[in-house]
Amino acid sequence: PAVALAATTALLLTACAGGAGGTDDATPGATAAGGVTLVSPGTLTVCTNPPYEPFEFEGEDGQIEGLDIDIVREVAEDLGVELATKVTPFETIQSGTDLETGTCDVVASGITITEERAAKFDFSQPYFDADQGILVPAGSAIATADDLTDARVGVQQATTGETWAQEEGIAGLVQFEDLGLQVQALETGQVDAIVNDIAVLGPFVEDGFEVAATIPTGEQYGLGVKKGNAALLAAIDGTLERIVEDGTYDEIYTARIGTAPAGD
Ligand code: ARG
Repeated sequence: PAVALAATTALLLTACAGGAGGTDDATPGATAAGGVTLVSPGTLTVCTNPPYEPFEFEGEDGQIEGLDIDIVREVAEDLGVELATKVTPFETIQSGTDLETGTCDVVASGITITEERAAKFDFSQPYFDADQGILVPAGSAIATADDLTDARVGVQQATTGETWAQEEGIAGLVQFEDLGLQVQALETGQVDAIVNDIAVLGPFVEDGFEVAATIPTGEQYGLGVKKGNAALLAAIDGTLERIVEDGTYDEIYTARIGTAPAGD
């Protein structure tokens, strides 16, 4: 399973939970449960990069929703604070810049845990298994990753899909800032195929596209906090463990992905 969490983090969270409303309240609202300090007191601020359905996308009410948001909402609830989402470029999410500048407390954006990123900010336990995929217009001759070598391929800037395509030696790479622009370019024929995480490509099949192939990269998503923010990281891992144990994670996964998590 994607989520294998240390039992100690839950204990830690339980032990500290009584801290809310305690002596730390000299700065009103600055600290939540577990001695967590937040960039905007009383609110857990999350940076995310939609459109990335079903992980983060604009819902009918104009609010950002999705699997990532459902999970950080659980974290906010455990901390006893509000949740606020901020839309930022994936580039500054994955570089740790949004965390460094205090733009948000946590980054939740389908972020694959990589060594390079883990050197810049701290990752939670993994919460989702991911692979890459290739989306093409229905009826395209592109059927495998090998067929991309001579094609014009759209990738999302600063993602693992871009890295994969670069390592593959694909000459005709075109970078896009987000998934929406990637799909638009495929629609208008500016590119022949796009590469991104397989789970976000599925929703486009009904719009006249098809998934040509899955690229099994074995990635895992993690939530990110500023380097050294141990209190918030412990709270996040505690919440991840709780939601796995009490069935909330399965509920969120099934509602957003449409199937039960593998290994269940
Ligand atoms: N999992 C990939 C990565 O970490 C892509 C994530 C893009 N996420 C987004 N919300 N646009 O590089």
